Amino acid sequence: MAYNNILVSVHDQHIGIVMLNRPKQLNALNPELMTELGAALLAFDADEQIGCIIITGNEKAFAAGADIPTMAQFDFAQVYKADFVTKNWETIRQIRKPVIAAVSGFALGGGCELAMMCDFIIAADNALFGQPEIKLGIIPGAGGTQRLPRAVGKSKAMDMILTARTMKAQEAQEAGLVSRVVSLEQLMPECLQAASTICGYSQLAVMAAKESVNRSFESSLSDGIMYERRLFHALFGTLDQKEGMDAFVNKRIPTFKNQ
Ligand code: HXC
Repeated sequence: MAYNNILVSVHDQHIGIVMLNRPKQLNALNPELMTELGAALLAFDADEQIGCIIITGNEKAFAAGADIPTMAQFDFAQVYKADFVTKNWETIRQIRKPVIAAVSGFALGGGCELAMMCDFIIAADNALFGQPEIKLGIIPGAGGTQRLPRAVGKSKAMDMILTARTMKAQEAQEAGLVSRVVSLEQLMPECLQAASTICGYSQLAVMAAKESVNRSFESSLSDGIMYERRLFHALFGTLDQKEGMDAFVNKRIPTFKNQ
C-alpha cells in the first residue's frame, strides 16, 4: 500500500516507526491517515523481524485530533452506517507487539486517544494532552471517556473532558498518563532505547506480558490473575525460558530465539 499521510521506516532492523505526516494540519487524523496507519501497523505486526513499533508525529504535533473539516460534513446516518471510528481507528487494538507513542506537541482529541491506544507513552516536555471535543458540540469518540479515567482517575478525566482543559507533559506524567518525560531532543533516542530493550527480550514473553496487562482492563482481579497464571505457565514451554534462566544461572547474556 502506498502511504500519503504517514512515513514508515525501520530502525536497526527490528523497530518499526510510523510518523504521522500531515504537518500543515497539525497531523489531524482523517480516515485516509487512519487506514494507512492500520495497514502499516498490521504489516509490522506480521513481520518476524520487527519486535516493537513506535508511533510519532512532529515537534509541534503528535496529532491535534480528528480532522474537523472532514467531520463537519458528516451526519448521523453517515457516521452510523460507515461505523466511523470503529472501522479504521482501532486496528491498533489488534497489534500484538508493543506499540510506543512518542509524543511531542499537541495530543488533542483523537490524538490523545490514539496515544492512549498505544501501550505506553513517552512524552517530550512540550507535549500537551487534552480532550477538547466538548468545544465542538461532541464528546470523545475513540475511547477518551474510557481510557482517560482508567489512566488518570475519574476526577481529572471529568475535569479534562468537561472543561476541555489541557494537561502539560509533567502533569500527565504525575497523573499516570505518561510513563516518561524527556527533552524534545531526547524523545526519539529515549523511545528507540526503550524499543531496543524490548526487542532484546523473548518476543513470546513480551507478547504474553502485553496481553496479560491488557487483560487487567477487561476482567475481574481473580479472572485476570488466572489469565496471567496460565500465560506464565505456558512460557515454561518455550526455549526462551530455558535460555533466559540458563543464562542467569551461568552468568552469561541470553540469546533469545523467539521460540
Ligand atoms: C483539522 C486542524 C486541526 C484539526 C488544527 N488544524 N487542528 N485541521 N482538524 N483537528 C489546522 C488548522 O485549521 C490550521 O490550518 C493548522 O492546522 C494550524 O492550526 P492553528 O490553529 O493555526 O495553530 P495554533 O494556533 O498553534 O493552534 C493549535 C491548536 C488548534 C490549539 C491545536 O489548531 C486547535 O484547537 N485545533 C483543534 C483541536 C481539537 O479540537 N481537536 C479535537 C478534534 S475532535 P490552516 O489551514 O488554517 O492553517 C476529535 C474527535 C475524535 O478529535 C473522535 C474520534 C474520531
